[in-house]
Amino acid sequence: MPGPASPKIVVTGATSIIGYFLLPRLVNAGYEVHAISRNRREKPGETDKKVFWHPVDISHPDQLPRINAQALIHLAPLWLLPPLLPILSSFQIKRVIGFGSTSLFSKAKSANDGEKQLVARFVTAEEDIMCRGSALKMNWTIFRPTLVYDCVHDKNIAVIARFIQRYGFFPLLGKALGLRQPVHADDLAGACIMALDQPITFCKAYNLSGGETLSYRRMVERIFNSLGKSVRFLSIPAWLFRSAIRVIMLMPGKRNMTPEMALRMNVDLCFDHTDATRDFGFSPRPFLPCWEDPKE
Ligand SMILES: NC(=O)c1ccc[n+]([C@@H]2O[C@H](COP(=O)([O-])OP(=O)(O)OC[C@H]3O[C@@H](n4cnc5c(N)ncnc54)[C@H](OP(=O)(O)O)[C@@H]3O)[C@@H](O)[C@H]2O)c1
Repeated sequence: MPGPASPKIVVTGATSIIGYFLLPRLVNAGYEVHAISRNRREKPGETDKKVFWHPVDISHPDQLPRINAQALIHLAPLWLLPPLLPILSSFQIKRVIGFGSTSLFSKAKSANDGEKQLVARFVTAEEDIMCRGSALKMNWTIFRPTLVYDCVHDKNIAVIARFIQRYGFFPLLGKALGLRQPVHADDLAGACIMALDQPITFCKAYNLSGGETLSYRRMVERIFNSLGKSVRFLSIPAWLFRSAIRVIMLMPGKRNMTPEMALRMNVDLCFDHTDATRDFGFSPRPFLPCWEDPKE
């Protein structure tokens, strides 16, 4: 006799760095996972009978597959979530967790037009989720992570490591003493599992920072150490850094870089996660870079 059917859950942005850790955690927790992204990036032989992939562009909400799921975890850009809410509600999906970013605060006063637009999109998306979600009587939660890493797929720590591996040094602007709290993608995946069924997290937003606060300089030193390399910094004046980044931005795949990224090396980007610890036991690891893929 077949056992009871597994509860279903939908994950949008499933190929993101957080999705990489979240999907197996959901399967282990007994869910049948419906993973959505435009391009599936699964490795051959990695098929899991409990994970069903749907290649869908969610900027067309009508293309969302009708799945009789208990919840949706949204790892794609946050502004794609509000237009999905009425459809989810019509599918009787009432629990939603979405990922925004602490950039909402840290880039709020940026001089860069692209960053200002990004902040505006996060602000509008959060307001829309609060408004529409509440009107539809949905149990929404917004997570705002700080700098996300896993040392393999991320665009932060792994990029610094690749630079160090290639050139043997790392450029710093001034003393680079701005504080950072890198958060591991697997801790964010764990946060989803812990908060999913916790009513105390409904209709709230949480900042999710890492378990250690360290200066940008110390963070890069830790990356040198973990790679077994001697620490070699090159101190570069602000004007030269700005010009270099403007040139790099002209290269293919580097358009997202901004001079403001370098200028922030001396700015504290710290966010308290004690609300998340109190409400659902969020307990992120300290910053310990590890260069092996944990699933290989
Ligand atoms: N990385 C960080 O340091 C950081 C920091 C703070 C917050 N966050 C937030 O955490 C979440 C995950 O971050 P990430 O860096 O891993 O993001 P990412 O690599 O940009 O991944 C985004 C995901 O969304 C999917 N996606 C994007 N547009 C889509 C569309 N129109 N239809 C369907 N799927 C779409 C992408 O898959 P396809 O391209 O295959 O469609 C991918 O799976 C995001 O919400 C991000 O804002 C990240």
